[in-house]
Amino acid sequence: MRCLVTGGTGMIGSRLVRLLLAKQCRVAVLVREPSLAWRIADLLPRLELIGGSLASLPEAAGAIQGFRPQTVFHLGWYGAVNSRRNDVRQVTENLGGTLELLHIARESGGQRFVGLGSQAEYGAHNGLLTEELPARPTTLYGLAKLCAGLVGQQLSDTLGIEFTWLRLLVAYGPADQADYLIPTVILSLLRGEKPRLTSGVQRWDYLYVEDVAEAIWQAAQEPRAVGVFNLASGQPATVRAIVERLSDLIDPRLPLGWGELPSPSLPIRSLEADISKFRRATGWGPRIPLDEGLRRTVEWFRENQGRYADADREVKGVGAS
Ligand SMILES: NC(=O)c1ccc[n+]([C@@H]2O[C@H](COP(=O)([O-])OP(=O)(O)OC[C@H]3O[C@@H](n4cnc5c(N)ncnc54)[C@H](OP(=O)(O)O)[C@@H]3O)[C@@H](O)[C@H]2O)c1
Repeated sequence: MRCLVTGGTGMIGSRLVRLLLAKQCRVAVLVREPSLAWRIADLLPRLELIGGSLASLPEAAGAIQGFRPQTVFHLGWYGAVNSRRNDVRQVTENLGGTLELLHIARESGGQRFVGLGSQAEYGAHNGLLTEELPARPTTLYGLAKLCAGLVGQQLSDTLGIEFTWLRLLVAYGPADQADYLIPTVILSLLRGEKPRLTSGVQRWDYLYVEDVAEAIWQAAQEPRAVGVFNLASGQPATVRAIVERLSDLIDPRLPLGWGELPSPSLPIRSLEADISKFRRATGWGPRIPLDEGLRRTVEWFRENQGRYADADREVKGVGAS
């Protein structure tokens, strides 16, 4: 299968690229700046790199059409990090780019499009998220994701493309962004410093990045997996339990700064999702339990700590994406 991946240099996309190569796919990656593609540096000789950005897709259209992707995996997104959630480029660049990408996919003979949505599409909902809930995003990030999923679905119907939109809750794992909760706590503890934390009562549903990549792959294989689906582990844990596990794995003697940060500004105390719709459509289920995923993540950060030398030393709150 010939696959085009946007966001292939990111935390989740790089894991997906690895999986696609392992499945013997031919993979092209839309890349803004090859010198910054450190997460896939070892794979570059096996990939076709297409220079371009969601902001200027027409410039990449010829190369994409030349590659003729059968499936497009759309993970690229300007401002996926917390600090840019209300940047207007969420709409101008990401929404416009997603719709443009669909057109280019069709012109290239593409039949399948799998995009990454977010829990942010639901807004500040406490309790179990089901796909039927009214979506009330509170950020431009959530709004742009919601529009990309809805308009993308409509446009795909017109263009004759099978379209899947996966509303992912929170991913974690190796090579994550430094300012999300789990990497920040790990890096702090590895430096022998006390992480500053909220009270830790929030419950979050984290999904290990390998499970995310496998879910994206299975979505593309299954004709019934068309439409909008939640993607999560289905097993939320408190921030306190997660941090205590990290502490046990790194150095239980180090103090933890519970309550040193104010409660998160997000009014979400419990982020969990019903994932039965996706399970029924694909048979997918998470394979890596939280305990094991945290152990692997700590090991990776221990070995790659140097990459994060300038990382911000303060927990900024959970990366509620
Ligand atoms: N991580 C989570 O917990 C989570 C949860 C829900 C949804 N998601 C969604 O999952 C996707 C991947 O997330 P991630 O955590 O892997 O994010 P990430 O590590 O921040 O990666 C973002 C990717 O998007 C690319 N990108 C940024 N702006 C772009 C643009 N203008 N044109 C083309 N590509 C652009 C980046 O390329 P560069 O390398 O050039 O910067 C990078 O490859 C995103 O769509 C995100 O919104 C993530």
